[in-house]
Amino acid sequence: MVSRCYSVAFQGVEACEIDVQCQLSAGTPSFQIVGLPDKAVAESRERVRAALTAMGVAMPSKRVVINLAPADMPKEGAHFDLPIAVALLAEMQMIPPEEAAETLAMGELGLDGRIASVPGVLPAAVQAAASGKTLVCPHADGPEAAIVDAASIAAPESLVALVNHMTGRQALPRPQAADPREDMATLDDLREVKGQEKARRALEIAAAGGHNLLLIGPPGVGKSMLAKCLPGILPPMSAQEALEVSMVRSVAHAFADAGLGRARPFVDPHHSASAAALTGGGRKAGPGEISLAHNGVLFLDEIAEFEGRVLDQLRQPLESGTITVSRAAAHVRYPCRVQLVAAMNPCRCGNLALPGKACSRAPKCGADYQAKLSGPLLDRIDLVVETPATPAAELHRLPNGEPSAAVAERVARARRTQAERYERLGAAVRLNAQAEGSVLEAAAEMDAEAQELLGRAAEKLQLSARAHSRAIRIARTIADLEATAQVRRPHVAEAVSYRRALAAA
Ligand SMILES: Nc1ncnc2c1ncn2[C@@H]1O[C@H](COP(=O)(O)OP(=O)(O)OP(=O)(O)O)[C@@H](O)[C@H]1O
Ligand SMILES: [Mg+2]
Repeated sequence: MVSRCYSVAFQGVEACEIDVQCQLSAGTPSFQIVGLPDKAVAESRERVRAALTAMGVAMPSKRVVINLAPADMPKEGAHFDLPIAVALLAEMQMIPPEEAAETLAMGELGLDGRIASVPGVLPAAVQAAASGKTLVCPHADGPEAAIVDAASIAAPESLVALVNHMTGRQALPRPQAADPREDMATLDDLREVKGQEKARRALEIAAAGGHNLLLIGPPGVGKSMLAKCLPGILPPMSAQEALEVSMVRSVAHAFADAGLGRARPFVDPHHSASAAALTGGGRKAGPGEISLAHNGVLFLDEIAEFEGRVLDQLRQPLESGTITVSRAAAHVRYPCRVQLVAAMNPCRCGNLALPGKACSRAPKCGADYQAKLSGPLLDRIDLVVETPATPAAELHRLPNGEPSAAVAERVARARRTQAERYERLGAAVRLNAQAEGSVLEAAAEMDAEAQELLGRAAEKLQLSARAHSRAIRIARTIADLEATAQVRRPHVAEAVSYRRALAAA
């Protein structure tokens, strides 16, 4: 006879069902796992054997073969311990085989039979709900799995507790879903930022239209501070968006730290980050920082200090919203729809624009430093703002800024306007930043004066076709913030002012 149980292998954030079969047959006692197991899965044997011993059960003195099907898909990770143990216990008639065959299990076994936390429980719960099976996962991961309402879940602490549950001796309760965190309230508030009116305005426009933003200015003027305020003025995530974000966190084993919240992710990798850390990869082709920022903000502080090669790898994913991580045997796709905010000093010492403070190499040092950002990357940044230095004494005298809640309200209104417009136009996009070609043309509704001004600006600043459409997008967002149906001259004038620093792009 063959007993079975199910588990999952991961392809990005998707869980593929794996059939874990166990057969006992007469012959020299042995324990074999076949079906492309990696090292962690091959070592399962020792953990399963020890966990059975800890329960007071000896391995059968027979030939034990575990097959992980489909056989041609590589199986990775220690989470196969538990399904292997379940299939084996079913074959040994210690738990009902028909129950085991309705179970999708994942968990790592300790030598004492405890079940340790593993990554990817959330996608596994989604899969279990879809195929009508009961998910068995580690106790610590129960709240993560329980987000999926439709899934039937058992989250035992140990193998003994699971056997008691499956034999009906002591049923386990369904775990409680993790409480959504009240994380919107703990975000940085724009009230704390004094002055920097132009940058605050650019941040609001960026939030409203989903535009990428670059802040350039001397050290200590509030660039990082401003960037951190962005999640606080963006609308909270929808349930679907929150689930997408949680899936990536689950696969990256970062769910417990980040939890389930409605605030958009804010991810700020250090500038020494490698390409694999940023875009995903490594031995297991895991998600990178850009995927952890999915539906939120990727903040590249001191962007000119990042390695050029690393930044260039962001170009394609920034455009497409998904990233394919390649590895020897497979290509794994992760979502990465992010809003990019970057900050940098104008030159290495940072004092280029400060009268009397610039170094002896100015202004060439500034040009060299800014040239570290490649043209194609800059091309993806819609808004460029300079953040001037305010003398400390003056800063103290300035009143506090407008609170984030007030700005968030305007942003939400502008986003609703955009969503309604693009729906009316039958376009798949929701934000001005995503509008292209004929959709953008139809959306812009520019009056004659605005068109004339844009034409002149394009000529004077030698705007490329791409920079030209970008100016239209920004002008559209500015008009949406004002709740004006048509894009008028002042909107274009303001939009072009955010392009001046990058006129050559
Ligand atoms: N506009 C401002 N309003 C209030 N506080 C400010 C402002 N600018 C700077 N500060 C204070 O200075 C600190 C440093 O600001 P921040 O880290 O944002 O500077 P930065 O522009 O990112 O500098 P760097 O280029 O060195 O990274 C803040 O934590 C804050 O206390
Ligand atoms: Mg900073």
